[in-house]
Amino acid sequence: DWSMRAFREEAVARIRETVGPGRVICGLSGGVDSAVAAVLIHEALGDQLTCVLVDHGLMRTAEAERVVTMFRESYNIPLVNVDAEALFLGALEGVTDPEQKRKIIGKLFIDVFEAEAKKLADAGGGPADFLAQGTLYPDVIESVSFTGGPSVTIKSHHNVGGLPARMNMKLVEPLRELFKDEVRALGRELGLPEVFVGRHPFPGPGLAIRCPGAVTKEKVEILRKADAIFLEEIRRAGLYDDIWQAFAVLLPVRTVGVMGDGRTYDHVCALRAVTSVDGMTADFYPFDMGFLGAVATRIVNEVQGINRVTYDITSKPPGTIEWE
Ligand code: XMP
Repeated sequence: DWSMRAFREEAVARIRETVGPGRVICGLSGGVDSAVAAVLIHEALGDQLTCVLVDHGLMRTAEAERVVTMFRESYNIPLVNVDAEALFLGALEGVTDPEQKRKIIGKLFIDVFEAEAKKLADAGGGPADFLAQGTLYPDVIESVSFTGGPSVTIKSHHNVGGLPARMNMKLVEPLRELFKDEVRALGRELGLPEVFVGRHPFPGPGLAIRCPGAVTKEKVEILRKADAIFLEEIRRAGLYDDIWQAFAVLLPVRTVGVMGDGRTYDHVCALRAVTSVDGMTADFYPFDMGFLGAVATRIVNEVQGINRVTYDITSKPPGTIEWE
């Protein structure tokens, strides 16, 4: 892609100019955006860059492992993988308000980075001067205001708040002017594998915002199983690339069901799948009913804790893609 080749060259030059001989820490989320940002910065700065993946225990099955393996084996980019599940789940305990969840997660991400940055500095090489993130243009706008309406915050994206002054680090956000399709094109230009570049977006706050109500480890595990079945069926049906994003949501509502000769009283799971160009607007995906029925049967049979499945047919606007 011609325009992405030009973007790549300019971005590399700009990163070199901004950072000079400084050191950079890049936060990886497991998703495409931060990985593309890291590979780009690595091209510009080589071993001035260290990546930190904060595993908050709120990712999908195997999401984090795949990125860790790719970075270590194919790219040889130094990567610290921090297990922070207990920290995040502890801080989220009993919290039900969606914005509060997002703020807690955003703050903890920064706290963990800060701690890791300090460890790296103590281990030699001195303090890092820059924190790199894979922030995209829609992340910036949606955290600030909503198109067409008055200036209100719809959702606080986990990576848009800026940094606390005490950190004494500057931000590097080389993708800040790009939309998702452009980031994918840039990822291809940088040689990232197609299966990775084509991945659906996944929000930084992870499964916490797909568990309306209080988040617990048990609920996250139930959700992860339902989500994996839904995605597996979508891939098997060859629909993955036609869909912008697909996922399960575990509702804090229990309903009565019957299985075998017994009564069940378990959670409801909602499935969400949308088409979109940039995430700013979206339409629900028109699966055929047979497909949805088969997914529902598998989820109820295979996931203990869920006895009812619904499909979300709201478009954006007025719905948002994520439920929180
Ligand atoms: P909504 O739910 O606002 O989502 O329609 C639009 C797109 O943004 C993703 N999203 C996030 N991505 N950090 C992210 O990196 C966040 O805090 C965040 N919140 C929502 C969402 O998955 C969808 O692709």
